Amino acid sequence: MSKQILIMPGDGIGPEIVAEAVKVLHAATARFDLDISTDEALVGGAAYDVHGDPLPDVSLDKARAADAILFGSIGGPKWDAIERSKRPERGLLRLRAELGLFANLRPAILFPQLAGASSLKPEVVSGLDILIVRELTGGIYFGQPRGIREENGERVGFNTDVYSESEIRRIGKVAFELARARGKRLCSVDKANVLEVTELWKEVINDLAGDYPDVEVSHMYVDNAAMQLVRAPKQFDVMVTGNLFGDILSDEAAMLTGSIGMLPSASLDQQRKGLYEPCHGSAPDIAGQGIANPLATILSLAMLLRYSLDRGDVATAIEAAVEAVLEDGLRTADIHTDGCRKVSTAEMGDAVAARLKAS
Ligand code: IPM
Ligand code: MG
Repeated sequence: MSKQILIMPGDGIGPEIVAEAVKVLHAATARFDLDISTDEALVGGAAYDVHGDPLPDVSLDKARAADAILFGSIGGPKWDAIERSKRPERGLLRLRAELGLFANLRPAILFPQLAGASSLKPEVVSGLDILIVRELTGGIYFGQPRGIREENGERVGFNTDVYSESEIRRIGKVAFELARARGKRLCSVDKANVLEVTELWKEVINDLAGDYPDVEVSHMYVDNAAMQLVRAPKQFDVMVTGNLFGDILSDEAAMLTGSIGMLPSASLDQQRKGLYEPCHGSAPDIAGQGIANPLATILSLAMLLRYSLDRGDVATAIEAAVEAVLEDGLRTADIHTDGCRKVSTAEMGDAVAARLKAS
C-alpha cells in the first residue's frame, strides 16, 4: 500500500525549505523505489488568508488521513494583529492536539564539519549528540483556565500549567525507551523546587525508573539545565521535559549545533504517526530571499522515513547525503564560515538530492 505524506509548507520561509525537502523526497523515492504519494494543504497564515482559519477542516481532514506530515513553519508579522484564536500558531497547536502528537523528539547533533559554526568552542561541542524529548500536547500551552481579564481596573493575563500522571507517564515511557536504545542516560528537567506540577513530574519519572533499571536517571532544575547546556552539553544523552521548558531548551540546544537551521523534529502519536518540522520558525525577515537553510527540514524528512515509514535505511542515506554536502564545503548563510562556499536554499537542496541519487 502506498504511503501518504501530507505536505504543509506554511508561511515565511516554510514554502522555500519544504520545496527542497520535497526534492530530496523525490530523489529518495527514485533511488529506493519507495511507494509514496503526496498531497498538499494550507496551514497557518497562508490558510487564514484563504479560509479565515489557520487550520481549516479541509487541511485537518487531510492531516488525519495521512501517514505522516511534512511541515514547514508558520507565522509572521502580517498576522500579528488578528484575533488570538485565529493566529497562525493556533493552527499548529491545534494540529498537535487534534492528532494527539504528544511526543516531540528534537535531536541536537553536531555535524563535525560545523564545529566552527557553533558559538561555543569546538571542543565543547564536538561529538555532541543530545535528544530532547518534549511533551507537546499538555502543560501550560494547553492548560485551562487561560486568558486576559479585567481585574480591579487593569488587565491580568493568566495561564495554567497542568500535567496528569498519565500524561507524564506516557511521555516518560517514550523517553526511557529512547534512552534505552542509545546512551542509556535520561535527564528529567523540572522546576520541582517551586512548581507543584513539576514536583509530580519528578515523582512519576522516578516511579517509571523502576521499569528501566538499565537506564541511569537524573533530575535537573530547568535553570541549571539551561546553564549546563552551554557549559558542558556533552554530559547529556536524552533529556525529557514538559512543553514550555522543552520549547526553550530545544532552541538553546539547536544553537550548539551551529545554527537553529540544522535542528529537525518529530512529533509522534501513540501509533508513531507523526508530524515532522524544523525546530526553527518562519523567519519572515529572510523569507523570499532564497537564503534560508533547508537542512533542518531535509533532516526532518529523514526522521519521517525512520519513525513513521519504518525506513531507517533511507533516513540514514539522507543524513549521510547531508553530511557529504557539508563535507564538500557547501553552506547556507547561517552556517557559513571562511573557506566554505556560500549557497542558496535551492542549491543546498539540489546538492543533497544529487548526493542521495548517487549513493
Ligand atoms: C516550536 C515553536 C512553536 C511552539 C510555536 C510556533 C507555536 O516555537 O515548535 O518550538 O512554541 O511549540
Ligand atoms: Mg520553539
